[in-house]
Amino acid sequence: MRATRSSWVALLAGLCLAGGTWLVLPEPPRPALAHKEPHTSEQLKLFQDLFMEQVGIGDLLFHGDAETERRLGVTLSKTGWACAMCHPYASDTHPAQFPKWQEQMSKFATLRDMINWCIEKPNEGEAIDPDGPAMKALEAYITWSNRNSPLQPGVH
Ligand code: HEC
Repeated sequence: MRATRSSWVALLAGLCLAGGTWLVLPEPPRPALAHKEPHTSEQLKLFQDLFMEQVGIGDLLFHGDAETERRLGVTLSKTGWACAMCHPYASDTHPAQFPKWQEQMSKFATLRDMINWCIEKPNEGEAIDPDGPAMKALEAYITWSNRNSPLQPGVH
């Protein structure tokens, strides 16, 4: 006879009872904390405006704007080269391919690792806080510039 799901449950329950223990049922899940209401168009616009504000700051940083670097307390380059000189329109930055094995660092690296690598190596600048405002703005600009690129994580 093929064992059905209910016969297995009955067998399990029987074994538990025979052993003097009770089946302990898992606790019901706590209420989900995710949003249930769809966002309003005003909220969506606010999110987009915030994102584009960061893209704008990243654009300035990527093009070596000294005032923005000073305001955020970062030194992205000491060679006079800005990111955009080697990566015009954020070309060859491949945000959609991270994380991936990065030979230069001999490690499985994130986009932020690679941004800091470029700041320290070709630019001879000072590595920035991976969670700081300059990093988030650079990431926003790089991602926005590469929008519509196919997502190929892990690919070189
Ligand atoms: C002098 C030229 C030069 C400058 C300036 C430069 N980079 Fe790069 N960048 C490179 C080279 C070379 C690579 C390595 C490409 C490779 O691994 O094939 C690279 C790789 C990268 C990558 C990873 C691409 C990948 O898929 O591996 C990112 C992201 C990046 N640079 C961001 C930046 C940022 C942000 C700046 C400015 C802070 C910057 N780069 C400045 C030359 C430069």
